[in-house]
Amino acid sequence: MIRTVRVMGDPVLTEEALEVRDIHHPSVKTLVADMWDTMADEGGIGIAAPQVGVPLRIICFGLDEAQSTDRPAVPRTVLINPKVEFLTDETEEGWEGCLSVPGMRGSVPRCTRIRYTGFDLEGRPIDRIAQGFHARVVQHEFDHLCGKLYPMRVKDWTKFGFTRALFPPKDEPGE
Ligand code: NI
Repeated sequence: MIRTVRVMGDPVLTEEALEVRDIHHPSVKTLVADMWDTMADEGGIGIAAPQVGVPLRIICFGLDEAQSTDRPAVPRTVLINPKVEFLTDETEEGWEGCLSVPGMRGSVPRCTRIRYTGFDLEGRPIDRIAQGFHARVVQHEFDHLCGKLYPMRVKDWTKFGFTRALFPPKDEPGE
């Protein structure tokens, strides 16, 4: 079931989310199914529970097919009670958008290599190393659980704005 996406300004997005105590509680399965439905409906790559108004530490992300060389496929993952460890001091800038900040894009510095851990819906541990775009997606979604939205991390304010202004549609050839 598609749920309403909370947008920037809603207090649930700037709160610290709570640990999931019982991963096997039926409401967790329903919530995750709804998060996937909502993400698909909005055309996102990731979603965090607070974005549908539920202050729990659950994120879903994934991109089945690469969109470009710097946006490769990312494994479809449900991550409950995640932890993120930075494996390098190296950061890189990259464009981000967010379902909770509709119509906008911003360039955000993110750590280039991370380890993330957590649990899947069955309670099995997940422990992965991720780099580049995959690492960026996880850091963006993890931030939602800490009450942080990507605009709070933008350093260069000339690279934050409306998508239609930052990336105007190209003129058709011959026009
Ligand atoms: Ni987001």
